[in-house]
Amino acid sequence: MTVRRLAEQQPDSFEFTPENRAWCDAQISKYPLGRQASAVIPLLWKAQAQNNYWLPQKAIEKVADMLAMPYIRVLEIATFYSMFNLEPVGRHFVQLCGTTPCALRGANDIKAVLEKRIGEQRHVSADGKFAWLEVECLGACCNAPMVQINDDYFEDLTPELMEKLLDDLAAGRPVKTGSQIGRIGSEPEPGKSDTLTDATLYDGSVVGSWKTRFDEARVAEKLAAEKAAAEKAAAEAANKS
Ligand code: FES
Repeated sequence: MTVRRLAEQQPDSFEFTPENRAWCDAQISKYPLGRQASAVIPLLWKAQAQNNYWLPQKAIEKVADMLAMPYIRVLEIATFYSMFNLEPVGRHFVQLCGTTPCALRGANDIKAVLEKRIGEQRHVSADGKFAWLEVECLGACCNAPMVQINDDYFEDLTPELMEKLLDDLAAGRPVKTGSQIGRIGSEPEPGKSDTLTDATLYDGSVVGSWKTRFDEARVAEKLAAEKAAAEKAAAEAANKS
C-alpha cells in the first residue's frame, strides 16, 4: 500500500449535477435517521465518476457536508480505499491486475505494453488520455490476464490485443468489453472444451477418489525411493568387495 495524498492541484469548488444530486438523495434516503453516514461510499463514488474518475478535496468536503460528517472522517475513507483516485487519471484509467493467476497468464507482458505506451504508473500520458496502475485481484481470474478501464473489464488479453485496445480508445473507436477472444463469460477457450473431464473433481458421488489417487501415488513414490536406496546400497557394497 503506497501513501495516498490529495493532488497538489485542486479545483476551487465541486457541486453535484442536479441529476447526480437526486441520485445521492435517493441513496441517503435508504438509511434511517441518524445513519446517513452509511451512504458515504456511494456518494464519494458518484462524485468521482462525475469528476473524470478522481476525487478532489472539494468533493470530499461536499460529501461530508451532505452527510453531516467531519471532513477528516470522509478524508480517511477516501484515502483508505484504493477505489478512490485522489489525482487525475486521464480519460481512460487502466487498472492492471498483477495478482498470481493473472501474472501466470502473462500480466507482466501487458504491464510492459502499458509502460511503453503510457509511461510510469500514476502518471497521466502527455495527451491526457491515459493513466495506469497495477492493482490486486479484480475477480475475473478465469479470464486472466485482464485490466479494468474506467468501469469496464477487458479480459483474455495478449500484448497485441492490449496495444489494439489502447489504439482504439485513443482514436475514439468503439471497443468490445469482456473477453477479447470471443469467450462468453468464463466458458472454455475455443478448442479447449475438455476442462474438468475428471469426474472426481466435481461429482459428489465419487468425492474422495482424488484422495485415494494421491495416496496411491505417494505410496508408489515411497516404494520407488526405497528401491533406489536399496540398489544404491547394493552397488556400494559390491564396489567395496
Ligand atoms: S488474479 Fe487477476 S483477476 Fe484475479
